[in-house]
Amino acid sequence: MSPPLFEPRRRLWLLRTPSTSYAVRIDEDDTVRHVHWGAALTLEQAGELAERTPAAGSSFDAVGGAEELAVEGGARFGPPGLQVRFADGTRAVEWRYAGHDADDGYLSIHLDDRHYPLRLTLHYRVHEDSDVIERWTTVENRDDRLPITLRRCDSAAWTLPGRDGYRVSHLVGGWNSEFRLRRAEVATAETVFTSRRGLTSHHANPWLAFDDGTAGEEHGEVWSTALAWSGSWRITLHRDPAGRTTWTGGHGHEGLTWSLAPGETLSTPVFAGLFTAGGFGAASRAWHAYVARHVLPHPGEPRPVLYNSWEATGFDVDEAGQTALAAQAARIGVELFVVDDGWFGGRVGDHAGLGDWTPNPDRFPHGLRSLSAEVHRLGMRFGLWVEPEMVNPDSDLYRAHPDWVMHMANRERTELRHQLVLNLARPDTAAWAHAWLDRLVAEHDIDYLKWDANRPFTEAGWPGHDDPDRLWIEHTRAVYRIMDRLRADHPGLRIEACAGGGGRADLGILARTDQIWTSDNTDPVDRIAIQHGFSQLFPAQVMGAWVTDSPNVATARQTPLRFRFHVAMAGALGVGGDLATWTEDELKEATELIATYKRIRPAVQHGTAYRLTGEGTLTAVGFAHEDRFVVLAWCPSRPYGHQPAPLRLTALDPGATYRDPDTGATYSGAVLLRSGLPLPLPEGDHASALVQLIRIED
Ligand code: GLA
Repeated sequence: MSPPLFEPRRRLWLLRTPSTSYAVRIDEDDTVRHVHWGAALTLEQAGELAERTPAAGSSFDAVGGAEELAVEGGARFGPPGLQVRFADGTRAVEWRYAGHDADDGYLSIHLDDRHYPLRLTLHYRVHEDSDVIERWTTVENRDDRLPITLRRCDSAAWTLPGRDGYRVSHLVGGWNSEFRLRRAEVATAETVFTSRRGLTSHHANPWLAFDDGTAGEEHGEVWSTALAWSGSWRITLHRDPAGRTTWTGGHGHEGLTWSLAPGETLSTPVFAGLFTAGGFGAASRAWHAYVARHVLPHPGEPRPVLYNSWEATGFDVDEAGQTALAAQAARIGVELFVVDDGWFGGRVGDHAGLGDWTPNPDRFPHGLRSLSAEVHRLGMRFGLWVEPEMVNPDSDLYRAHPDWVMHMANRERTELRHQLVLNLARPDTAAWAHAWLDRLVAEHDIDYLKWDANRPFTEAGWPGHDDPDRLWIEHTRAVYRIMDRLRADHPGLRIEACAGGGGRADLGILARTDQIWTSDNTDPVDRIAIQHGFSQLFPAQVMGAWVTDSPNVATARQTPLRFRFHVAMAGALGVGGDLATWTEDELKEATELIATYKRIRPAVQHGTAYRLTGEGTLTAVGFAHEDRFVVLAWCPSRPYGHQPAPLRLTALDPGATYRDPDTGATYSGAVLLRSGLPLPLPEGDHASALVQLIRIED
């Protein structure tokens, strides 16, 4: 790994990734300034840029170039990334450079306040196989008596080169409609992207991408960042009237404080960023590769085809019904059988039982052990739904520990879905959650947990604690710790991240889970847009995608089984329909399609993904892997007579020949790239095609 280069005279550092560079310097005032983020530069070239000190404006403007983490203090008027209050009431900081550490792909720059015992360290890490730069901060109270109040502590601020204007790409949504991609001009204003929910959120995701308005899927300069955090967060984008574009972000939303005790250090989550000159597609592929190489615990492992009856049976789960479904699931080729909500305590609907994590004896008279054994006997793995952070007030747990939930004196405890949030920042609550999960996994041979969280925080207080806002961060850390410990103690255990569908999808949760439940919306037409947005940051191998019944429960839309499969086959395939009601023909078709999925799985889950666009409503994804290129194409609606033109492919060798093993047809790479692949689309709406192309050795 190439170590950061340092030029002592200018106090300039240059970080190098395989095809990009990132440069920072320390100015005369000991402020860390941004110099460059983009195409590869030499240290000399970065030095030339470092000399460009922005002209001083009027007395109404801040002085100097963009900062790597803007603090509150001095003549700074943009959004601060670090805000503190010392014990004597002084706010603001003044830095003195206190040295740096550089080693392989790692750089840290230390800054001490000139008067108070506060140290800030800016951390940077790069990898030899990725253009992603990981950044975070640590703040340390070096006093032995007095606390320091942190009012904001971001992980990093990022800066774009000066251009006439920029466009921001971001994800918006809600329950059942996550990951909708939006592109908008960056306003000359402060624009806040945030979650105040205690969860990553369905409504906004801490991923952003920027271009100057001219980038496309396969061309143009794109800068993109993603925060590795699964609780509340805030990213403030600022384009000032002088045309400087920066964004600062980190965990926690506005108004929360953290009392940094004497001797305490707070470490913030990684805020990762990348630059590419290859358009939005290349940005996504760089993220996917980074997630596989540096985030996921088991990237090389094929994600099993799973079955989950939630959408089909709801809370009506019992041993007989699940055993019958397991037999059907095994028959069609399912590899992992997951029992969803409703197996425990008095949980026969959403109003009671959450928190009482013992199998319901009426529904599972032999406990869960016999079902687990039967699922294993059928050759499948056994998974179970849990929601460890939540409790129904109508539960034995709540009756015994009403103080374990987040709450505030003299305030209502707002119920959402009839449940409250347990305060896992409390060591006793976290210990309880770990203990029952650990026992459950060990005693029932559980291979897989679907870890859900079905409501945001409200009244997030901690009566009796002297720094109650801590829980916003400590709760998420406790979730991480419990997952990490379970994984360490049960090496075979795999975890699915879920929060009412895709409400907790981020790089932080992915470091300890194996896939994400993308959305409770399983309508294949809606899913195309959801999957498009999801794929901006996340690879297909973590994108949980079920085939459910038609008409769809959410949208009432009727679609062919093949279309539903073809959409779900672009991710980690699952089945969520009521198999007890599927006809023999449907079961046969599902069996064939699951077998096909297993054949294309290496390409989908471990290949390189290309988003492709055809005519009209036709969109597609191509997965390149070794000598194969797999195309999944979907055309939700077609006017009379519509026959889309051949789909132009990408990432093929123009000089090679490719063979479709299903039809025997051969195509030259050049023709597929320039004229396109004719798609075998059936007539009518909800048409789809799956084409495999295998490169023929000359
Ligand atoms: C959430 C999940 C669903 C299901 C239900 C169970 O909504 O996203 O998949 O597990 O909870 O209550």
